[in-house]
Amino acid sequence: MYRSPTLFLALASLLFVVSCAVRAQGAQDGGVTDAALPADAGQLVPEIATLRSLYAGTPDTWPKAAVDPGVEFVEFGLLPARTELDDHSRAMALLGATLFAERRLSGSGQISCMSCHNRELGFGDGLKTAFGHDRKRGNRNSPSLFTVGLLDKLMWDGRSNSLEDQVHNPITNPIEMAGNIEDIERWINQDPEYQKRFAEVFGEGRIGFGQIAQALAAFQRTLRPPTTRWDAVLAQGGKLLNDEQLLGLHLFRTKARCANCHHGPLLSDQKFHSLAISFYDRQLEDVGRYSVTGDPKDVGAFRTPSLRAVRRTGPYMHNGIFPELRGLINLYAFGGGRDRTAQSKTTNAPPPVHNPLLTKLELTNEERDALVTFLMML
Ligand code: HEC
Ligand code: HEC
Repeated sequence: MYRSPTLFLALASLLFVVSCAVRAQGAQDGGVTDAALPADAGQLVPEIATLRSLYAGTPDTWPKAAVDPGVEFVEFGLLPARTELDDHSRAMALLGATLFAERRLSGSGQISCMSCHNRELGFGDGLKTAFGHDRKRGNRNSPSLFTVGLLDKLMWDGRSNSLEDQVHNPITNPIEMAGNIEDIERWINQDPEYQKRFAEVFGEGRIGFGQIAQALAAFQRTLRPPTTRWDAVLAQGGKLLNDEQLLGLHLFRTKARCANCHHGPLLSDQKFHSLAISFYDRQLEDVGRYSVTGDPKDVGAFRTPSLRAVRRTGPYMHNGIFPELRGLINLYAFGGGRDRTAQSKTTNAPPPVHNPLLTKLELTNEERDALVTFLMML
């Protein structure tokens, strides 16, 4: 890339001045405090040595994330540990694990939960959007299940409130497993192995679909993303980050504006936002949260996904349009996508409204790379 030397010099001296100011301020306060970043921290990136001292400790000592007014930022942190399972809950979760791989829950006897939520593929399926019964293609990306036990609302549009409730959906959905609950209850009650295992967990008696759902939910609650360097950073401090990861972390919390929606231990606010990629009035049109609430603000809004283990959960977004994280960063730098603004002919939903949290970002190539490097570590 061509860079003007004058511009480069000007920028370099600007950064030098800023970093000196930051250091002076830090020294005055006797350490790293919220006040240690200049007021315009949102835009100016201090040099690495400064970042190193600002983020050396654990998140409670980091400079405040620069979020917009009204955003209820929750500091980054470790995910809650798995709850210790007693023998009964362990038996239930293990039964759930067996059912998760059970193809006979589908109409064709070919598809299990694991077909689309494969451990080796980050509990997703590595596809843009899912293939189900008869290889029919759905219009949404199979989300990773690494953090499902910690979510308030499930599905990209939040239409399900619990893991128990969610189970009906894929099993009976004609383009997913195309199963039939009565058929399932019939064969499972005749299967000696399942009879034994359900009796161990639920006591003797007829096996009902509710019990199947309970066991599947119990299994999914035991899932957690693999432990990474990010866990070590959260526990021991940013001193463990290399330069690029450190820059990525800082950008994520400031200039790149990610922390407005991705925060807390999940790196998700669990709210619904439009990134203007709903393909409104186009072939892949998906009105998202609007189909649940009917609220015009929710057209094209989807739940902010957790970013833990995100390196393993591509392709990205509700419609899987990004195979790589770099492309997704470019979308954010562009201020989001460009949904059409005239009434769609294929839905009654009004056109998506502009999301004020999305603005064009001045990110250099190096900064975009640093954001990707940061995401790859989570
Ligand atoms: C054909 C592929 C397919 C199969 C089979 C499948 N799923 Fe899914 N799953 C998806 C897709 C696609 C979504 C997202 C749907 C949406 O948001 O509308 C999803 C969403 C979910 C979610 C919500 C995740 C979140 O982040 O909110 C859970 C939980 C889940 N599936 C569990 C299961 C279980 C349990 C089974 C087996 C009973 C199963 N799935 C079978 C494709 C599949
Ligand atoms: C306005 C809130 C908001 C902001 C700001 C935001 N995100 Fe997101 N992010 C979302 C939502 C909502 C989705 C899902 C959108 C969809 O599928 O249509 C998402 C999806 C993602 C995904 C895909 C995850 C997956 O599993 O598919 C990644 C990665 C991501 N964001 C990273 C970032 C980064 C990096 C930034 C800063 C440059 C950022 N986000 C800024 C709300 C936001």
